Amino acid sequence: MERKTPLISAEDLQRQAEIAEYIHEFWQKQGKTPVAYVETYGCQQNEADSEQLRGLLQRCGYGFTDTAEGADLILVNTCAIREHAAQRVFGNVGALVHTKRRHPGQKIFVCGCMMGQPEISERMKNSYPHVDGIFSPHHLWQFPEHLYRVLIRHKKAWAVEDSAGAIAEGLPTVRTNKRKAWVSIMYGCNNFCTYCIVPYVRGRERSRLPEDILNECRALIAGGYRELTLLGQNVNSYGKDLGLGTDFADLLGQIAELDGDFVLRFMTSHPRDASHKLFDVMASHEKIAKQFHLPFQSGNDRILKEMNRHYNRAQYLELIAYGRSLMPDIVFTSDVIVGFPGETEAEFEDTVSLIEQVRFDALFTFIYSPRPGTPAAKMPDPTTKEEKNRRFDRLVAVQNAISEEKHRAYVGKTLRVLVDGRDGDFLTARTDGGRLVRFAGDDDLIGQFANVTITDSTTWSLVGTAAP
Ligand code: SAH
Ligand code: SF4
Ligand code: F3S
Repeated sequence: MERKTPLISAEDLQRQAEIAEYIHEFWQKQGKTPVAYVETYGCQQNEADSEQLRGLLQRCGYGFTDTAEGADLILVNTCAIREHAAQRVFGNVGALVHTKRRHPGQKIFVCGCMMGQPEISERMKNSYPHVDGIFSPHHLWQFPEHLYRVLIRHKKAWAVEDSAGAIAEGLPTVRTNKRKAWVSIMYGCNNFCTYCIVPYVRGRERSRLPEDILNECRALIAGGYRELTLLGQNVNSYGKDLGLGTDFADLLGQIAELDGDFVLRFMTSHPRDASHKLFDVMASHEKIAKQFHLPFQSGNDRILKEMNRHYNRAQYLELIAYGRSLMPDIVFTSDVIVGFPGETEAEFEDTVSLIEQVRFDALFTFIYSPRPGTPAAKMPDPTTKEEKNRRFDRLVAVQNAISEEKHRAYVGKTLRVLVDGRDGDFLTARTDGGRLVRFAGDDDLIGQFANVTITDSTTWSLVGTAAP
């Protein structure tokens, strides 16, 4: 089978690198190191994109600042998943008009998933004249060219044409964390869940080649990274477009066999494509964290069908049971939507009962938010906002009680954790299962694995002391 996904050619990437070099020289001639402020909304995929944008900015000669005030360039990387996120972006971008007034040379770019929605990018273009450039995720790799247009040619840059998407290998990256790295293994989504905007703004599923991913992982491990998280909207369909016979479970196993002391995570898995083979690979590799984020969205079969999820409650429960049969301590987390159009009280109760049956360690609960252009946005939705809020509160209360109980069961255990930072008097760390742990210790433990005995717990986290 021939590879379906177009790769951005070496010549095209070289051209962008040359434009970046030109911009770098432009600043050098002025004897100035400009600074950029990058603000990121949304999921890990967007975080990873922002790291590449930082890489491209660095190539253009920019340093970084953590405030919009006085920055030479502001880049807002947006998320379109729910209405609320979009509203915040409009509010914050609107407020930048004042920031720019105080620093007239400032250039403002808005990118990310919202810019993949034509009516939104139009609104940004027409109603926010202080914005200099906008581009959708498909046009990220051309950022030097957008910047050149704005900075050198004094024009606006708009790059929002839709496409199925391509892959740009070898873009520079400035990672925000020195020990934990995101590794995108694929882009886009083919699932078209009826509520979701992602397939419209990020294009079709396309996988990076296994050797490109393995090389990136090898370099990260050699560079001292201790945690690698493989990213994709549906990692379980990795490789289908490549036709190489390598599926996600194979790839995960190959990365887990690399030399070095690291922990390997992945997200997100779609239950439709989660295979027993994947659980088998997890169980047989020590370096793969025993944590599985498996969004179920609803516990009711009619709603799952309306959502176009292609699995039912029984199949979902079977996956959980299989995972636990191999790895009794596996940590399951999930996403759930309440108030999908037409969800009845009884159908909502099926979601509650699924939560009680599975007993997730943590759950991300969302109230359904209509996304223009998606099929669900056209479905009749008679349930009131108040009723949806009530269902939401009930779900959160049920889950909090479960999380609290599950956390309490850790007390007395000694666990190996990866220390990732400091919060006040405590170091913060994550267990293999991804649970947050706080304990007292020296900063030189940050970035290292440590053993911690759990002494106390809350709904959200564990408290411990360093163990010998
Ligand atoms: N690709 C991932 C999830 C991406 S979005 C997956 O399929 O699992 C993260 C979560 O946001 C989803 O799992 C879903 O629970 C939620 N979400 C997506 N669209 C939404 C919408 N329109 N309203 C409310 N929540 C939504
Ligand atoms: Fe959205 Fe569904 Fe794709 Fe996840 S799998 S990104 S929820 S369409
Ligand atoms: Fe948001 Fe785009 Fe991620 S819509 S959740 S940033 S893929």
